[in-house]
Amino acid sequence: MSITGKATAVAHPNIALAKYWGKRPFGHNLPAVPSLSVTLAGLATRTTVAFDDALAEDELHLGGHPAAAGPTRRVSGLLDRVRAASGRTERARVTSDNDFPTAAGLASSASAFAALALAASTAAGLSTSPEGISDLARRTSVSAARSAFGGFVALRSGAPGDETLPATPVAPADHWPLRVIIAVTAEGPKDVGSSEGMKLTVDTSPYYAAWVTDAPSLEERVRAAVLARDFQALGSAAEASALRMHASAIAAAPGLLYWTGATVNVLSEVRRLRARGIPAFFTIDAGPHVKVFTVPEAEDEVTTALAAVPGVLRTLSATPGPGAHVVDPAV
Ligand code: ADP
Ligand code: DP6
Ligand code: CO
Repeated sequence: MSITGKATAVAHPNIALAKYWGKRPFGHNLPAVPSLSVTLAGLATRTTVAFDDALAEDELHLGGHPAAAGPTRRVSGLLDRVRAASGRTERARVTSDNDFPTAAGLASSASAFAALALAASTAAGLSTSPEGISDLARRTSVSAARSAFGGFVALRSGAPGDETLPATPVAPADHWPLRVIIAVTAEGPKDVGSSEGMKLTVDTSPYYAAWVTDAPSLEERVRAAVLARDFQALGSAAEASALRMHASAIAAAPGLLYWTGATVNVLSEVRRLRARGIPAFFTIDAGPHVKVFTVPEAEDEVTTALAAVPGVLRTLSATPGPGAHVVDPAV
C-alpha cells in the first residue's frame, strides 16, 4: 500500500434563507433559481482523502462504517473530476464523519461535498481557491457550492453556456450574529433525498413554474434584508421562500410531504413567539426539522419554547460560521 497524497478538510452545512429547489434542464447540475444561505458553525463534516495506488476502487467510510454503493458512487463522481484535472489515476480512501444527522434535511450534502472537494483537491495537489472548490462541490450537490464560503453566501441561477458557477460571498459571518436553533423532530434519514425530490417536483408539479418565476424576487428581498440587518424583513422573505418551495413540492405527483405533525407544531410555536414580541422566524428544508432564526438575547427563551413543543426530540444550536478549511496535519 502506498499513499500518494492525503489531506483532511472540515466544512459546515449551510441553511438557505432563499431556497434552491430544481435544476436547469441543461448544463452540469445548475440550479434553476438563485439562493442565499448562511454557513453554520456548530455542525460540521470532517473528511480525509488518501489517494492510494494499491486501491482498485474508491472507498467511502462514513460515520465509521463502509458506505453503500449509491453514496460511494456520488463521492467517486467528484473524485473523477479531481483525477481528470490533476492527471492522477489512483483511487482514494475517503473517511468522513458528520457530527449531525446524515441525509435528514440538515444539509449533510452541503458540508460533505464542500469538505470532500477541498480535501481531494488538496490531496491531489490542485489549486484550492474558494471559487474553484465551490464550483467543484456544486457539480455534485448544488447547496455544497455555498459551504465553500463562510457567513452569508449567494449562488445565482444557472444560465445556458455556464462553464462554471461558483457561489459568491455576500457578508462575513460576523456581519450579523444571528442564532439558529434547529428543532430535531425525527431520527434517521428521510425517505426521499433532495435530488430525487426536486426532480419529481420539476417533472410533475404544476406549481414548479410559478416557483421558478417567483424565487428571484424573494432572493433579492433576502439579500437586501441581510445587508441591512433587518430581522423582520429577513423573516418575512425567508419564510415565504421556504413555504413556496414546499408548496411546489407538495403539489408534485405524488405529493412530496417532508413535514410531519411535529414540523407544523414548531411552525405554530414560532408564530406564537412572534405574537408575544419575541424575534423569531422559521425555515424548513427537505426534511421534517425546523430551523428557527433569532437574536442572541432571545436564544434561551426560544430554545426553551421549542424544546417543549410536542414532537421535538432535541434542539441543536448554531451561529454564522466559516467556510471549508484544511485541517493540518491530515488525520
Ligand atoms: P441532506 O438534507 O442531508 O443534504 P441530501 O439528500 O441532499 O440530504 O444528501 C444526502 C446524501 O449526501 C447522502 O445520501 C450521501 O450520498 C451524501 N452525504 C452526506 N454526508 C456525507 C459525507 N459525510 N460524505 C460523503 N457523502 C455524504
Ligand atoms: C431544500 O443541494 O441537497 O436544502 O443539488 O441535488 O444535491 P442536490 O440537492 P441539495 O438541495 C438542497 C435543497 C434545500 C434548499 C437549499 O439548500 O437551498
Ligand atoms: Co442536501
